[in-house]
Amino acid sequence: MNITIIGTGYVGLVSGTCFAETGITVTCVDVDQKKIDNLNQGIIPIYEPGLTPMVQKNMEKGRLFFSTSLKDSIAEADAVFIAVGTPPDEDGSADLQYVLGVAREIGKHSDHYMVIVTKSTVPIGTAEKVKAAIQDELDKRKQDIPFDVASNPEFLKEGAAIDDFLKPDRVVIGTESERAQKVMKKLYKPFLMNNHPVIFMDIPSAEMTKYAANSMLATKISFMNDIANLCEIVGADVNNVRRGIGSDTRIGHKFIYPGTGYGGSCFPKDVQALVKTSEQNGHPLEILKSVELVNNRQKSVLYRKMMTHFNGNLKGKKIAIWGLSFKPNTDDMREAPALVIIDKLLKEGAEVVAYDPVAMEECHHKIGDSIGYAKDQYEALIDADALVVVTEWNEFKVPNFRVMEKLLKNKLIFDGRNIYDIEELIENEYTYYSIGRKA
Ligand code: UGA
Repeated sequence: MNITIIGTGYVGLVSGTCFAETGITVTCVDVDQKKIDNLNQGIIPIYEPGLTPMVQKNMEKGRLFFSTSLKDSIAEADAVFIAVGTPPDEDGSADLQYVLGVAREIGKHSDHYMVIVTKSTVPIGTAEKVKAAIQDELDKRKQDIPFDVASNPEFLKEGAAIDDFLKPDRVVIGTESERAQKVMKKLYKPFLMNNHPVIFMDIPSAEMTKYAANSMLATKISFMNDIANLCEIVGADVNNVRRGIGSDTRIGHKFIYPGTGYGGSCFPKDVQALVKTSEQNGHPLEILKSVELVNNRQKSVLYRKMMTHFNGNLKGKKIAIWGLSFKPNTDDMREAPALVIIDKLLKEGAEVVAYDPVAMEECHHKIGDSIGYAKDQYEALIDADALVVVTEWNEFKVPNFRVMEKLLKNKLIFDGRNIYDIEELIENEYTYYSIGRKA
């Protein structure tokens, strides 16, 4: 088998590498020459545990290639995966210019049967548009070359991407012909052999499955965040409530951890896009509008707690932040709650010093020197009026409270991820705020 993956972003690079890992010959294509040059030297543009050695190994084995030439790369391909970006338009709907641009390029150069698979998260109906774009280019060339389109949405999580890809809960594939299904079955044979469910369906359903899955998960999180807020008011503890409801197997324990709101490149964008699709189709999903509203509000929850604690005056206060990325094990700061918190603190005239195990460079790239960057988590605490924990990196979970109290000006912690024991902090005489728990 020989496949081409267009787009070496998160989804493209991980999918390409993992397909190569199963023995398939993969060429990953990108228009960014610098990125391809780097990849050809084994330099990976993203932080993802385990990815670099896997890329290097598969390159050495002669199964994984990187190129800027779409034309050359599809010459032998059985399938071409489109994994380019679909950034949100001003109105929240997904911008398809890159996906359709790639489709046109494929149509311009195709000379044999291939399955063209959309792997990026794309609105329902996109595969049809891809098909029309390819056909249009073939018609211009007066070429009668058969092809099929398919939808194969990706469900991998940043930070756990390789495991998610190689050991998926399920693979969803939308096809409209037996020929395409046969190619996709061959491609996913190792997964079928290992009993990971591969679910075939029609194309619109596959496209919808991706949005419905992410929106359902985002809904769980917003629901739990708002329950946590109510818990604080009525004197309940959300940790107990979480355990209580999670034990019901119909609800489950996953994705019901309250925090500072969901971020990243997927949930915010996909919820917005599905809201847009629903409105465009005359069936507004009110529930998702609330999910988004609650999430935007939740990103300021720690800020509001700080304002209350400091009687509405943060001017001149030095605030230490632990964790900048939108979640642990990634340097991704897209839609990260930390950005909202930092922005609000700076507007109030506070001074911010932050530490993150991997996202410092990314943060500097985004907001420059408007905040200070500490060498390690303890340095950030020197003379700080409070510590704010925004991302639950493992190394923040069992800190040395005795060392911390020597560095901090006040023994004051705002914990946006509920990672500390209330009893332990009370024992150590800290003032401690968390999310939805009794202090
Ligand atoms: C998400 C989905 O989980 C993947 O299945 C999907 O493939 C991916 O989007 C995508 O569409 O590409 P990801 O954005 O990498 O993956 O991150 P998650 O681990 O899902 O976390 C998303 C956000 O939810 C984070 O901000 C996290 O802190 C937050 N979260 C998660 C909570 O606040 N509480 C929870 O209980 C779980």
